[in-house]
Amino acid sequence: MVDYNGRLSTVYAAGRGMTVDEVRRWTAAFRAYLPDERPLTTLDLGSGTGRLTPGLAEAFGGQAYGVEPSDRMREIAQESAAHPGVTYLKGSAEDIPLPEASADGVLMFLSFHHFRDQLKALQEVRRVLKPGGAAFLRSQFADLMPDLFWYDYFPSAREVDAGMYLSLDQAKELAETAGLWCGEGPVWVSAEEPRTLREAHERLTHRALSTFEHLPEDEIEQGFARLAADAEREPDKLMPVHPAAMLVLRRPIA
Ligand SMILES: C[S@@+](CC[C@H](N)C(=O)[O-])C[C@H]1O[C@@H](n2cnc3c(N)ncnc32)[C@H](O)[C@@H]1O
Repeated sequence: MVDYNGRLSTVYAAGRGMTVDEVRRWTAAFRAYLPDERPLTTLDLGSGTGRLTPGLAEAFGGQAYGVEPSDRMREIAQESAAHPGVTYLKGSAEDIPLPEASADGVLMFLSFHHFRDQLKALQEVRRVLKPGGAAFLRSQFADLMPDLFWYDYFPSAREVDAGMYLSLDQAKELAETAGLWCGEGPVWVSAEEPRTLREAHERLTHRALSTFEHLPEDEIEQGFARLAADAEREPDKLMPVHPAAMLVLRRPIA
């Protein structure tokens, strides 16, 4: 388990912040699967520091609920990602503090792999979704891992990361067991902006990715020494970006 009440909460924004355009590209991707009517009610499940929650309220013109178990992450969201259309609630995916059939859309953005009981969570997602509503499972999948440039610097990182995630078929099977319909998938979303090696290095130094919580300290030190040297040599080199995988799950109408 990763502790989001400690160090990670303090470095999350610096290491994993999104630009306004990145958030907009994500909400445009969700919009394609939701009705055109407004307002729509959305739920950001595992909303963290509220990186995307105000974007949901903006894009869909209705209430966006951010449900987050970590007190510290939720406090930061309340301080730095407040919005008149957003309500942050203490709660977990396994016990969502919203009524049945109350949400048009549910977002799980890199939170699903942290859920203690993923089946229970998906059953809860089905419960709170309106019939026909859509849930967006933005996750990595063990059999579709992107070839991130920084994996080359930390030899165990790729395997550590892959070990955190279900395969695509496992995720779909779990969603179907929970009574959610999964189409063909995943959908690939190109939302991330290219960053230079200097920027990418600076973001990584915050160790805001939970991967680093599982790597030996000597591997982290050696990897950052090599990365710093390369960033100094080629600071303006543009780093590759990878389309992000997302499964769209629906609560059936009947
Ligand atoms: C990598 S962060 C992602 C936060 C946010 N979705 C984002 O993209 O910035 C994972 C979040 O999931 C939360 N989380 C962990 N266990 C959870 C659970 N059982 N239910 C809901 N959220 C959970 C963590 O506290 C953390 O804030």
